[in-house]
Amino acid sequence: MTIHIGAAPGDIAETVLLPGDPYRARWAAETFLEDVRLVNEVRGMLGYSGTWKGHPVTIQGSGMGMPSLSIYVNELIRDYGAKTLIRIGSCGAMQEKIGLRDILLAMTASSISTPSAGIFRELNFAPCADYGLLAAAHAAAVARGVPVHAGGIYSADVFYDERPDLNEQMTRHGILGVEMEAAELYNLAHRHGCRALAVLTVSDHLITREALPSAERETSFANMIEIALEAAFP
Ligand code: HPA
Repeated sequence: MTIHIGAAPGDIAETVLLPGDPYRARWAAETFLEDVRLVNEVRGMLGYSGTWKGHPVTIQGSGMGMPSLSIYVNELIRDYGAKTLIRIGSCGAMQEKIGLRDILLAMTASSISTPSAGIFRELNFAPCADYGLLAAAHAAAVARGVPVHAGGIYSADVFYDERPDLNEQMTRHGILGVEMEAAELYNLAHRHGCRALAVLTVSDHLITREALPSAERETSFANMIEIALEAAFP
């Protein structure tokens, strides 16, 4: 047990999927895994372990924002031996060519600040995905005919951003979308020699202002989860 995860040693698989929403962790585990068991419910941040096609997998909620994700990912890596960590989440699109429901694969994750800023200080470290996971996820998305875009994303610290000029600069520099967790996931994976990837579904569009109706979210999220599992075990 750690401060924030109540799982027993050995209860967490080396491959961990990380949705922000703990209820999505439950839905994904119950929908895609076999032999599912609840391994964490500290603070309601649900985590489940089971198997996918015989491979052990844990699906653990990370909460919203990099400070929350940093707590869970630090403990998953340092105390439970997680080796492959894939964020599954939603994002806002920042380019016109991207549609609602499209999948974004975060090749890099820029940020204005992260919980790792104290380590990097003046260095503009470039957090990037594991190439093997990225290539496998891209192939999995293409194989299922899902529109997919691989490129840079932006991990914001605030959802209700009072700096629209920053979003404009991100769009201008080709950033595909915005979410709030991937940059720190990548930093931690680099630091501890792990593999990481963020697979994101476009749930809203910052340019067109469209948003995915909640009834449709489940099917789009199902594609994303299967792409993440296929990337982990190609
Ligand atoms: N901003 C930040 N995070 C998000 C967004 C957004 O527009 N959509 C989904 N996650």
